[in-house]
Amino acid sequence: MQVQIMGKCKICGSPGFTYVPEYKGYLCKEHYSRFIQAKVDRCVKRHGLLRGVKRLLVGVSGGKDSVSLLHILSHLYGGRIEIKALFINLGIPVYSAESMQAAAKAATLAGVDIDVVDIKEEYGFTIRDAAELFLERKISRPPCSVCGTVKRYILNKYAVEKGFDAVATGHNLDDFTRFSAVNIVTGMVKDLVKQVPREDSIHPKMATRIKPLCLVSNEETRKYVLANDLPVVESSCPYKPPPRKLSSLIAGKIDEIEGEIPGFKAMFIGNLWSKILPMLNTPREQLRECELCGMPSSGKVCSFCRLRETITKAMSKERFL
Ligand code: AMP
Ligand code: FES
Ligand code: ZN
Ligand code: ZN
Repeated sequence: MQVQIMGKCKICGSPGFTYVPEYKGYLCKEHYSRFIQAKVDRCVKRHGLLRGVKRLLVGVSGGKDSVSLLHILSHLYGGRIEIKALFINLGIPVYSAESMQAAAKAATLAGVDIDVVDIKEEYGFTIRDAAELFLERKISRPPCSVCGTVKRYILNKYAVEKGFDAVATGHNLDDFTRFSAVNIVTGMVKDLVKQVPREDSIHPKMATRIKPLCLVSNEETRKYVLANDLPVVESSCPYKPPPRKLSSLIAGKIDEIEGEIPGFKAMFIGNLWSKILPMLNTPREQLRECELCGMPSSGKVCSFCRLRETITKAMSKERFL
């Protein structure tokens, strides 16, 4: 049996919690947490993520990334800006209830108020309904794709209606590198330009979006949760599709390179932001107001209202059959 020998914390000499390549040594739980918080703070300052932000809404799913995000943001800026958490109850059997518990506990621990939007109550359907309709071939979009549209719409609508200046989500460094690489390979320039730490509002009904964990990896948020004993949901979403082959191969290769060359992911994404994206001359979409709900849309009716109509119709047909 291999016994792992933990060194002492390079900063204070107490028992080490984990090896940190940037320090070429071990850090204890407290100094590891400070190291991650400092990384987020540098990113927030370098990219002006909180420029003009007095009231910030944080989307908390109960997963390790958004729970860490809430903890870090409230620790760093809780005294200076108003921070509120939002949990969207998507009506996914078992998973939504467990996630909501974790999100609520995380908010209490961070000293932040949390609000819940229940999609069944607000819009009359759940992601479970969408999954069943998809299985019965009554709608063509898989539940995870429906879920993405619903979450984006609600986070934005809630923020705009309640007067928040920005919405923060827990997308991390691994999300950024994987999405960016896939977008480059598949030529999805429209999506590539969205892989930035801050997307400014371009419409009065669109909130600025920020992603303060953009330089923090999966492994780092996993350890941050352990170091701070944060509550996170244990179960996983039953509708999460297996990763696409291209995406998982690319993510695996990126991890391999990071193992050989620590800092590779940060270099890739840093160069994308500073050197590649500024060269791409992609005009931002022109937005108008959705004829049904009044939220920003590129067409007459926004993607959420179109989706809602499709699901509601399919559900009412089912009831009458
Ligand atoms: P995902 O789309 O599941 O990868 O989640 C990306 C980010 O969206 C998370 O880190 C959260 O900030 C936010 N988010 C996801 N699910 C929820 C939810 N149910 N309620 C509130 N925010 C969420
Ligand atoms: Fe949205 Fe799984 S969390 S479908
Ligand atoms: Zn220490
Ligand atoms: Zn609409």
